[in-house]
Amino acid sequence: MVLAAKPYLQQVSLQSKSIIDSNAYPYNISAIAQLGTLKFHSDITFFVGENGAGKSTLLEAIAVNMGFSAEGGTKNARFSTMSEYSAESVYPIYESLKINKSFKMPRDGFFLRAESFFNVATYMESIGSPDAVYHQQSHGEAFLTLLTEKFRGKGLYLLDEPEAALSPMRQLAALSAIHQLVQDESQFIIATHWPILLAYPSAKIVSFDADGLREISYEETEHFTVTRDFLNNHQRRLAQLLTDD
Ligand SMILES: Nc1ncnc2c1ncn2[C@@H]1O[C@H](COP(=O)(O)OP(=O)(O)OP(=O)(O)O)[C@@H](O)[C@H]1O
Ligand SMILES: [Mg+2]
Repeated sequence: MVLAAKPYLQQVSLQSKSIIDSNAYPYNISAIAQLGTLKFHSDITFFVGENGAGKSTLLEAIAVNMGFSAEGGTKNARFSTMSEYSAESVYPIYESLKINKSFKMPRDGFFLRAESFFNVATYMESIGSPDAVYHQQSHGEAFLTLLTEKFRGKGLYLLDEPEAALSPMRQLAALSAIHQLVQDESQFIIATHWPILLAYPSAKIVSFDADGLREISYEETEHFTVTRDFLNNHQRRLAQLLTDD
């Protein structure tokens, strides 16, 4: 029997000895306090849920635990332009996470924090890194360059809301680029509000809500139901949303 290299990141749980203070961040977030054991899909695992449900908190804790800078980038990116991104102060759970990994290390990796993508680009450019993504490009263009030219495959990619900068056509291009990386032995964990990407067939969708984490189907996501309802009934929905009373 041949052992599969993927998923590089198999599952995550809280260490049994973790001290859980449910009145303080991050254990005041239901999904984090009730993490249980989260098993990852070997291709793509999506984190979905309301704003503030804890998706970024968990993704960042996993990233720091896997050796990425809390501010994002490749594993070589060691920098901090904002002191608040110190792993110890911002991500107290990163030490409490128990992570099961594959026998095989990914050959490439990247942690994308949506809001600090610009800083990663600045830093890489300043050190003349071959990983530089160019400031001459727009935010969306730079992200697509990252996907198509800098991500080398056989990698572990942790992406927090990568869609923020992308036009609809580029979202489709990004979906196709992600698919090529998946076929080239890559694993993704993606926190997203992006209905188009969530349709990817070889994926697990994990919903963060008040009762903890649960796996749901694409058709069960609010991204699918709310977007479809709006597009099918936009005049009626607008009339309802924009009434004065
Ligand atoms: N460093 C911090 N200290 C205290 N509270 C924090 C900290 N970072 C985030 N929070 C709070 O924790 C909760 C979860 O935040 P998080 O960023 O993980 O949510 P999210 O699911 O990623 O939301 P979104 O979809 O808006 O990105 C929020 O209520 C947020 O205000
Ligand atoms: Mg977030």
